Amino acid sequence: MLQTRPGHRYARLMSVGGYRGSRVVDNAEMCTMIDSSDEWIRQRTGIVERRWATDDETPLSMSVAAARKAIERAGLVPDQISAIIVSTVSHFKQTPSLACEVAAELGCPAPAAFDISAACAGFSYGVGLAEGMIRSGSSDYVLVIGVEVLSRLTDFDDRSTAFLFSDGAGAVVVGPSDVPGIGPTVWGSDPKATKVIEIGDWKQLTTAGETPYIHMDGRTVFLWATTFIADKTKEALALAGLAPDELDVFIPHQANNRITDSMLRHLKLPESVVVSRDIVHMGNSSAASVPLGMEALLESGEATSGQTALIIGFGAGLVFSGQVVTLP
Ligand SMILES: CC(C)(COP(=O)(O)OP(=O)(O)OC[C@H]1O[C@@H](n2cnc3c(N)ncnc32)[C@H](O)[C@@H]1OP(=O)(O)O)[C@@H](O)C(=O)NCCC(=O)NCCS
Repeated sequence: MLQTRPGHRYARLMSVGGYRGSRVVDNAEMCTMIDSSDEWIRQRTGIVERRWATDDETPLSMSVAAARKAIERAGLVPDQISAIIVSTVSHFKQTPSLACEVAAELGCPAPAAFDISAACAGFSYGVGLAEGMIRSGSSDYVLVIGVEVLSRLTDFDDRSTAFLFSDGAGAVVVGPSDVPGIGPTVWGSDPKATKVIEIGDWKQLTTAGETPYIHMDGRTVFLWATTFIADKTKEALALAGLAPDELDVFIPHQANNRITDSMLRHLKLPESVVVSRDIVHMGNSSAASVPLGMEALLESGEATSGQTALIIGFGAGLVFSGQVVTLP
C-alpha cells in the first residue's frame, strides 16, 4: 500500500498584504480618454477614481511588494513558504510562471510555484487550493497572490469597459490551524459563457504588435452576477454552517457597487455586516480586488482579525468561487 502524508487538520488565513498602482486616475481624467461623465460612472458603478500602475510597476514588482507585507505580517520569512499560487490574466509571458519569478525575487528556496487563470474569481480559487494543499499535507505555508495590470489591456475606444479596470496586487499567507479558518469552497464555471468576457489572442502581440484588449458583454455579466452568483454566495454561507446574522463582513469581488447592492438584497444580510466598497477608490482590479478590499477594511478598523468574512469572486470564463474565512 502507498504511504501518504499526514495533513494538517485545518487551515486559516494568517495575514494579508496589498499593493496598489501608484497613479490615481479620477473620473475627470478618465473622461478625457472616453466619451463619458463623472456622474454616469459614479451612478452606474460607484467608481470615483481608480489606480493604475506606472511604467516601472509590473505584475512582478506589485506581487512581490504585496507578498513581502503578507509574509512579514504572518511572522514568517520567505524560506518558510512551501508553495506560491499566483492568479493573474495579465502576466505577459507564457512561461516561466509569475509564481516562479516571485519565488526568485523573494528568495524562497524551492517552493511549489504555479499560476492559475481564473480571472476575477482567481483569488478565491487560490485560497480553496491552498486550503486543500495544507490539509493534504503537501504544503505548510502557501502564499496566494492575485495581481493584475488591466490598464494595459484596456481598449480606450470602448467606453463601456474602459472606466472600470485598475492595477494592483493582494496576497495572503495560508497556513495550518487548530480550528477551521476557511470554510468549504463553492466554485464552478459556465461553459456556455466562454465568450462573455475575453482578452484577445496573445498572437496579436507578436503578429500585429497590438495589445489584446478586454472585451466584455457587461449586461450579461451584470445579470449573471446578480442572480446566479448571488445564489452561490448564499450556498457558501450555508456550507460554512452560518446564518446571515452570524456573518461579520462581506467582501465580494469589486466589479460594480450596484452588483454588490443587489447581492446584499438577495442575501438579506443584517445592517451590521461590514461590506467592502473598495471599488470607489480602486476600480476593478480583478484577482487583486478581494485581498485589497480585505486589507483596506482591516487597516481602517472597520473589520478586525478573527471576524468571519464571506468572500466571493466571479468573472471571465465565466467562473466563480467563494468561501467563508476567518479574517487574519
Ligand atoms: C459595464 C456596466 C457598468 C454598464 O452599465 P449598464 O447600465 O449595463 O450600461 P449599458 O451597457 O446598458 O449602457 C446603457 C447606456 O449607457 C451608454 N454608455 C455605455 N458606456 C458609457 C459611458 N462610459 N458613459 C456614458 N454612457 C455610456 C450606452 O451606450 C447605453 O446607451 P443607449 O441606452 O443609448 O444605448 C455594467 O453593465 C456592469 O458593471 N456590468 C458588469 C461588468 C463587470 O463587472 N465586469 C467585470 C468582470 S467581473
